[in-house]
Amino acid sequence: MNGNWIRERIGWEPYLRPFLFKKLPQGTGWMATLGNLSVLLFVLLFFTGIVLAMYYNPSPDKACQSIDYIMNEVPMGSILRGLHHWGAGAMVLVVFVHLLATFFSGSYKAPRELTWIVGVVLFLVTLGLGFTGYLLPWDMKAYWATVVSSSIVKSAPGIGDYMGRIMLGGESVSGLTLTRFYAIHMLLLPALLVILVVMHIYLVRVHGLAEHAEAKSAESEIGRPVQRFFPEHLFRSSIVFCVVLVILIGLSVFGTVPREEMAGTIIDSYQPKPEWYYMWLFQLLTYFSGIWETIVSLIVPVVAIAVLFLVPFLGHPNIRSLADRPAAMAMGVTGVVCIVYLNLMGFASVRPYGETIPVPDRTLSAHEKRGLFVYVERECAYCHQISGRGGNRVGPDLANVASKGRTEDYLNRYVKNPQAVKSTSIMPKYDLSDKDLTALSGIMLALDFSKYPMKIMKREEVLKSISASQSSTTENVQAHLPGGSATASEEAKDR
Ligand code: HEC
Repeated sequence: MNGNWIRERIGWEPYLRPFLFKKLPQGTGWMATLGNLSVLLFVLLFFTGIVLAMYYNPSPDKACQSIDYIMNEVPMGSILRGLHHWGAGAMVLVVFVHLLATFFSGSYKAPRELTWIVGVVLFLVTLGLGFTGYLLPWDMKAYWATVVSSSIVKSAPGIGDYMGRIMLGGESVSGLTLTRFYAIHMLLLPALLVILVVMHIYLVRVHGLAEHAEAKSAESEIGRPVQRFFPEHLFRSSIVFCVVLVILIGLSVFGTVPREEMAGTIIDSYQPKPEWYYMWLFQLLTYFSGIWETIVSLIVPVVAIAVLFLVPFLGHPNIRSLADRPAAMAMGVTGVVCIVYLNLMGFASVRPYGETIPVPDRTLSAHEKRGLFVYVERECAYCHQISGRGGNRVGPDLANVASKGRTEDYLNRYVKNPQAVKSTSIMPKYDLSDKDLTALSGIMLALDFSKYPMKIMKREEVLKSISASQSSTTENVQAHLPGGSATASEEAKDR
């Protein structure tokens, strides 16, 4: 059997030859390998994903276990999972850098607008794959990242509730969310990605790779080696892929894929952290509160995506050199700097939320101070605001609990075991002493700003005030403060 046998039966040669030996513009360099690299990374993820799917079980009580099984029992399982995990991060990064390189080189300009737009959709699909894949291990961080991001979706005016239900398969993150994300992650998005990649490559081939804006005028073509897709460019791409693969294998063998307790485990004041490529948005949100958090969390992604789609229609179609596009350059650089900066702040856990706490403007009793201390120490502000300030909006505003008519007993029971009070509640359980629980309820009930005006306290102030009053062992430490007598009787009541 020789080459002719196949050739006669399939007749692929007339199509393959021009594809393989297509001439590329002069000056096609390493940056142009990023597109190929993205595809190769996808192939890697596709095959490691197939093997993982053979062992993975998408149900809340089995998912974690099945991942343990993959890590410990399946031959090379931990390396496979590592390759899938690190490869996914690499793919997001490479696709993003590919997008930036195309932006800065002006290669997206006419007649390549559609190539760019399909590329942007590919980028979004890649992010979607990362997002849906993040939930699958069903550990604490997976669960909470999904809870937090679904709360953003739910906050959209009008359609938010509806979209939230579609996203989660119900009111909250549950087994239905897991199977839903699994199906989207395994079937829908990969299929979409393949179709889009074929479209993208087709368009790239129709228009050819964009020449370097500078190469056209400055350099003469004579004497430079011919560039073809095969072998020159494919060779270069293979080298890049091999280097990346070696790094990924290194990470998989020597690094550990971060892994946390199974979702639903009781961990006090657990702080959800999103995957690094979503970190910037979550960090950005921590700078806003109240209605502004909703606005920013919805507007920023929508505007960012809209701008990406509009990019090819902005600016002069024929000016490609970066030096002649100061506005584009400023926009691109600002965007990148902001994203990198916010990501770094996010990783450094700079938390602007919870730095200030609104309290009633009167002297607080020792009991209430204790409650405030617990509130700050346990980071309730990670999910709760008080009167629209000082926290995130994952949970309800706690200034309302008094006006909603919640009783001390209700609040105690709720914080200790939210699911026992409301089975669908997503709030973590807090294993606090009865004294701390009633103190917390005390301060929550005191947050009624219709009775007293509001005063803003600093986090440090709260922490300091309690350590001062704690160090003195006398029960009547409050006696010399105005309002102290009320305190004493309240304290007596508690015991
Ligand atoms: C990880 C996020 C998160 C953290 C941290 C958190 N909560 Fe919650 N909390 C929620 C959510 C979400 C709800 C609403 C759940 C529901 O009813 O569906 C809630 C509900 C509540 C409620 C019930 C309000 C009502 O009117 O029924 C109280 C009280 C409460 N939280 C207090 C606290 C206190 C005190 C802390 C700190 C010790 C805290 N929460 C920490 C997410 C959180």
